[in-house]
Amino acid sequence: MSTLTIEDLHVGVNTDTGLKPILNGINLVINTNETHAIMGPNGSGKSTLAYALAGHPKYEVTSGSVTLDGEDVLEMSVDERAKAGLFLAMQYPVEVPGVTVTNFLRSAKTAIDGEAPKLRNWTKDLKQAMENLRVDPAFASRNVNEGFSGGEKKRHEILQLEMLKPKFAVLDETDSGLDVDALRIVSEGVNRVKDATDVGIMLITHYTRILNYIKPDHVHVIIEGKVAEEGGPELAERLENEGYDRFFQKA
Ligand SMILES: Nc1ncnc2c1ncn2[C@@H]1O[C@H](COP(=O)(O)OP(=O)(O)O)[C@@H](O)[C@H]1O
Ligand SMILES: [Mg+2]
Repeated sequence: MSTLTIEDLHVGVNTDTGLKPILNGINLVINTNETHAIMGPNGSGKSTLAYALAGHPKYEVTSGSVTLDGEDVLEMSVDERAKAGLFLAMQYPVEVPGVTVTNFLRSAKTAIDGEAPKLRNWTKDLKQAMENLRVDPAFASRNVNEGFSGGEKKRHEILQLEMLKPKFAVLDETDSGLDVDALRIVSEGVNRVKDATDVGIMLITHYTRILNYIKPDHVHVIIEGKVAEEGGPELAERLENEGYDRFFQKA
């Protein structure tokens, strides 16, 4: 079993007018085989958490720690984080001009494993994963995220997830911009990875919609950079009915 531990994490974002504090002491423990939904209204700091875990240079960890099985994640470079088994799908994926989906996936897999995957199995698995996600075979020879629709970007992320088989996956607003069919296909992909591997998932979402397809074991609500409430799947149901208003009335 592996564990991703976030302790008293404080993160600020570098802006023109200096460092703006966003996260004010986040505590989270995610084990393999667990799915944690991170919920919260717009601007509460969910993506900031994802960026901090990804090592985005704009986001500065001012105190606290992130460890993977005791190893300091914050000390790791971005590719060391990937090698350690962290997979991060960002809310706004970047374009990689001149690099095709096929080459990108194979290079990423090679970098993470320290050796190239056996070509025959790799090609077969990739073909299967693409079929599962209903992506056109021509997709493989397109440049990463260049001109991708919102839905194609999300499918490409799940394709990466299926092929790279990480220990922990952080999925930021994977449901944003998806119609109901695409949401189902993408969710099925996540569930396939959950069934086939021991992946631990941090599923960041503003809406409860995706949680009808991907069942969380734990739900954490972030309000103004802090975990305001935690519970099981029933908490997501309550938020579905009531929204986030009550957190602000209390404050
Ligand atoms: N680059 C940035 N410059 C200035 N403010 C930022 C930047 N990134 C995030 N913020 C602010 O940090 C807060 C949290 O943002 P974010 O983490 O994206 O929230 P969420 O993903 O929960 O909607 C917001 O108030 C947002 O405006
Ligand atoms: Mg966000």
